[in-house]
Amino acid sequence: MVEVKSQFIRLSLVAAVVGIAGCEMRPMHRMTPRAERRESAAAKPVATDSKSPTLNIETKPFGETAEGQPVRLYSLRNANGLTADIMTYGAIVVSLQTPDRKGQMDDIVLGYDRLDDYIKNSPYFGAIVGRYGNRIAKGKFTLDGTEYTLATNNNNLNHLHGGVKGFDKVVWDDEPVWKADAVGVKLSYLSKDGEEGYPGNLKATVTYLLTNKNELRIDYEATTDKATPVNLTHHGYFNLTGGERDILNHVLTLNAAQFTPVDEGLIPTGELTPVRGTPMDFTKPAEIGARINNGYQQLKFGGGYDHNWVLDKRGSGMTLAARVYEPTTGRIMEILTMEPGIQFYSGNFLDGTITGKEGKVYKHRWGFCAETQHFPDSPNKPSFPSTILRPGEKYETTTIYRFSAK
Ligand code: BGC
Repeated sequence: MVEVKSQFIRLSLVAAVVGIAGCEMRPMHRMTPRAERRESAAAKPVATDSKSPTLNIETKPFGETAEGQPVRLYSLRNANGLTADIMTYGAIVVSLQTPDRKGQMDDIVLGYDRLDDYIKNSPYFGAIVGRYGNRIAKGKFTLDGTEYTLATNNNNLNHLHGGVKGFDKVVWDDEPVWKADAVGVKLSYLSKDGEEGYPGNLKATVTYLLTNKNELRIDYEATTDKATPVNLTHHGYFNLTGGERDILNHVLTLNAAQFTPVDEGLIPTGELTPVRGTPMDFTKPAEIGARINNGYQQLKFGGGYDHNWVLDKRGSGMTLAARVYEPTTGRIMEILTMEPGIQFYSGNFLDGTITGKEGKVYKHRWGFCAETQHFPDSPNKPSFPSTILRPGEKYETTTIYRFSAK
């Protein structure tokens, strides 16, 4: 009821703004004021000790890039002892400790111990990807009559995750965020006009908040001075066992009756296909591994799950997109988002060649990604919800990962 009411209020606000401005109704970029998000920082809590944790933020240097740019690491801790380490390079979540059903804390994200390893070879571990998460066919799109060419950094065929040097490979400006019930870091990056081939100076901010409700909340904002596609997402690789084994026993629910099928190059065909009767159906809880190798053509194309699901949504507010349960530890991760889609990727390209944190070898399907997003290749698919941000508009979207155990 509360959710319905707040959605109603949001929709009324959107309708009012649209009515006043007389512009078209676009489901993507809400232009409503978000006073609640920018509330002034709460008083900084007093020093903590580990026996009775309260909200805390610590920062420390975390090395520097090849160009000599210093990188900082933020260690966030909530009142229940959950921690998130986030660095300014790539806005990367380096570690995320959550309790299992016995209260045992474990790090549930894949990654490296050292900055250099992230710089040398990372399949987007924990990063914010942008300007455009996922693929744009042949690295080309036409906007307002101009054709733009982007890097074809995915098998020399398609554009992937913002290009050669996307938002995952730049150093973001940072400031701590203190709230009464959460701590966080606000990361900002100016992507210049023409960077990676995209039009317009795009000012992007991503605020991570670790809340006392055991949520990692990600608020994305952006503005531009020329029309440009924008599709930001977080590319965390999760393993709710704490990285002890692959993710095939994790039980997944996706609140989606349809997905966007792809061709061999993982570009959507433009159709929305019902999941019913296929191994793409996670409307009821199912183990990720139960049907992954069953020969279904879409799974062959992806080498497993690597697809965008069309979330069942009413209105433009936050909805529950996914739930993942890991039976041996009892950990549960729920994903709420304002986005219309989610890319569920079962770590198919992990093959044991990467040794990550604490010497753990990341074998096949050792982590899953659940990237909330607009659909891949939207700039070339007029029937998909628009990803175009125009001057004067504000890109605002939020995704929440909520953790519990049972
Ligand atoms: C894509 C995969 C890709 C991976 C990068 C995912 O978002 O859908 O196809 O391989 O990111 O490691």
